Amino acid sequence: MSTKKIAIDGPAGAGKSTVAKAVARTMGFVYIDTGAMYRAIGLGAVRRGIDASDAKAVEKILDELTVTMKHGPQGQMIFLNGEDVSEAIRMPEISVAASLVAVIPAVRLKLVELQRTLAEETDVIMDGRDIGTYVLPNAQLKVFLTASPEARARRRYDELREKGVQTTFEEVYQDMLFRDKNDSSRAFAPLRPAEDSVLVDSTEWTLQETIDQITDMVRQMT
Ligand code: C5P
Repeated sequence: MSTKKIAIDGPAGAGKSTVAKAVARTMGFVYIDTGAMYRAIGLGAVRRGIDASDAKAVEKILDELTVTMKHGPQGQMIFLNGEDVSEAIRMPEISVAASLVAVIPAVRLKLVELQRTLAEETDVIMDGRDIGTYVLPNAQLKVFLTASPEARARRRYDELREKGVQTTFEEVYQDMLFRDKNDSSRAFAPLRPAEDSVLVDSTEWTLQETIDQITDMVRQMT
């Protein structure tokens, strides 16, 4: 039996994960956060004292890094070599490391294989940068979710502060601009809307309005 697939792509801080999580809960899909996988590899490199932009060094340790996920009612947990790193990967310096390792084709190929395997097993809503264009080109619904850089940085800043992470708006904003540029300009599977995606700009919307809008799209496809 073929499974249903929904792709949600877009830049950092557009609200992809919150929206995807809510839609998954309402509509009975498994939510898969692919950014968490790049973050886990970024964390693995940082912990080994490796410069995340050094492709050769990252490639050398790639076989030593095993990423696994668990999906339950509380959402997704991610493990690096068996250790639960769901919290550790959310630190701002790991966002940047994730974006740097994500440029390396060997890293992408390793994670895309895992992503496609997960999507074969069950109905999924998967968020990332290249899901509609590369990972799941046959997804039945593709959404490109975006918002202005200021709105995205504000949301991410509020989220980090709520978690007790010490940071400034400016730092979050600059990290975001760096990642947007890095993610959009890489050669292999860059961030861009799939031709058959629906563009959703959430700048002026509340989170709930965005969730409702995308839930409606999913209802129409099922
Ligand atoms: O989505 P999140 O912000 O957690 O992703 C962290 C980083 O991982 C992104 O900035 C991007 O560089 C990378 N990423 C990617 N492809 C994906 C998901 C994330 O390149 N499908």
